[in-house]
Amino acid sequence: MTILVTGGAGYIGSHTVRALQRQGFSVVVLDNLVYGHADIVEILGVPLVQGQVGDRPLLDQLLRGDHPACAGEPMEAVLHFAAYAYVGESVADPARYYRNNLGDSLTLLEALLAEGQRRGEAPVPIVFSSTCATYGIPEPDQIPIRESCPQRPINPYGRSKQMVEQLLADFGEAYGLPSVIFRYFNAAGADPAGDLGEDHTPETHLIPLVLDAISGRLAELQIYGDDYPTPDGTCIRDYIHVCDLADAHVLGLQRLLADKGRHIYNLGTGTGASVQQVIDAAMATTQRGLLARVAPRRPGDPPVLVASAEKAQIELGWRPRYPELSTILAHAWAWHQRLHSTNP
Ligand SMILES: NC(=O)c1ccc[n+]([C@@H]2O[C@H](COP(=O)([O-])OP(=O)(O)OC[C@H]3O[C@@H](n4cnc5c(N)ncnc54)[C@H](O)[C@@H]3O)[C@@H](O)[C@H]2O)c1
Repeated sequence: MTILVTGGAGYIGSHTVRALQRQGFSVVVLDNLVYGHADIVEILGVPLVQGQVGDRPLLDQLLRGDHPACAGEPMEAVLHFAAYAYVGESVADPARYYRNNLGDSLTLLEALLAEGQRRGEAPVPIVFSSTCATYGIPEPDQIPIRESCPQRPINPYGRSKQMVEQLLADFGEAYGLPSVIFRYFNAAGADPAGDLGEDHTPETHLIPLVLDAISGRLAELQIYGDDYPTPDGTCIRDYIHVCDLADAHVLGLQRLLADKGRHIYNLGTGTGASVQQVIDAAMATTQRGLLARVAPRRPGDPPVLVASAEKAQIELGWRPRYPELSTILAHAWAWHQRLHSTNP
C-alpha cells in the first residue's frame, strides 16, 4: 500500500516516512525543497518528487499512480506535512502563508475528492499536520489543553492551519472526506539512529538553538521574558519526541484506513518544561555551559502550552516511547554533533 507524504523532506515528515516504512507501507514524497532536504529522502530510500502541493495536474498523476515515482501504485492516503511554519514571517507576509498553507491544501483536498470519484469510492483519506498554535492563548484553567478547547489563533500561521481544519470539517460533512487532524505541540529530538533530525534554516525552535549556543554556533541564547506567571518566570512548553509523533501518524493512518472517519487529536506528552528547565537539562546532557541573555517578551507568546494527549492514548493506543526531556535532548545532541561535523 502506497502513501503520499507531502513535506516528507522536512523534519517531522522524514521521521514519519521511516515509521511508515517500518510498518510495511511504501511511500512517495512530494516536497518543493524550499525548506526540505533531498539528501534526507535519499537516506530514507524513497522516491522524491520535487514539486508544489498546489500543482493539481501533478497531484492527479501521483494519486492515480501514473507518475514514474509511483511504480504504477495509486495512493491509498496522503499525509500532509507540507507548510510554511515561521510565525513571525506569517505576520509580515500573510499572503505567502495563506497561498501556501491554505491555497495549496484546498487544491490537495479537491484532488482527493476527484480521485475518489474516479475510483468510484470515498475520497482519498488525509492526515493533516495542525498545531497547538490554533489554540492561541488559552486561559490558565484550560491547561492541559484538550481538543475541545476553543481555537483562537493569534497569527496568520495559526489561522492558516485552523482554516484547513475547517475545510476538512466541511469537506467531511459534504463529501465524506476521511481525515485525521493532529495538533502537535513542540516537536523535538531526533531519530536515535542519528541519521535524521531537525535542520531548519533559519532555526527558531528552542532546543536546536540551545544546542547551537552550547556548541558555540550561536554566541548567545535569547530567553524571551523571565517574568511570566510560571515557577521560574520563563515560558512552559510541551516537548514531544519527533519519533513519537511519527508513531502516532502510523496509528492514525491505520485507524483512518479502517474506519474512513474523522478524528482530531492533540499530540504532546502532557508534561511541560520551562525554557530555563530546557537549558539546565541541555547543560546536564552535554556537560557543557552556554551564554544566555534575557530579552523582552515576544508578543503573543502564551506563558504555558501543555497538551492533554489522553484522547490519542485512549483511542489510538498511542504511548510516547521517549517522554523524558533528557532522552529528547540526548537524541537531539547526537544529531546536532553529526550534522555540524559534516556541515559546519
Ligand atoms: N515542528 C514543530 O514543532 C511543529 C509544531 C506544530 C505543527 N507543525 C507542522 O508540522 C508540519 C511539519 O513541520 P516541520 O517542522 O517538519 O517543518 P519543515 O519545514 O521541516 O517541513 C515542511 C516541508 O514541507 C515543504 N513544503 C512546504 N510547503 C510546501 C508546498 N506547498 N509544496 C511542497 N512542499 C512544501 C518544505 O520544503 C519542507 O520540507 C508543518 O505543517 C508544520 O506547520 C510543526
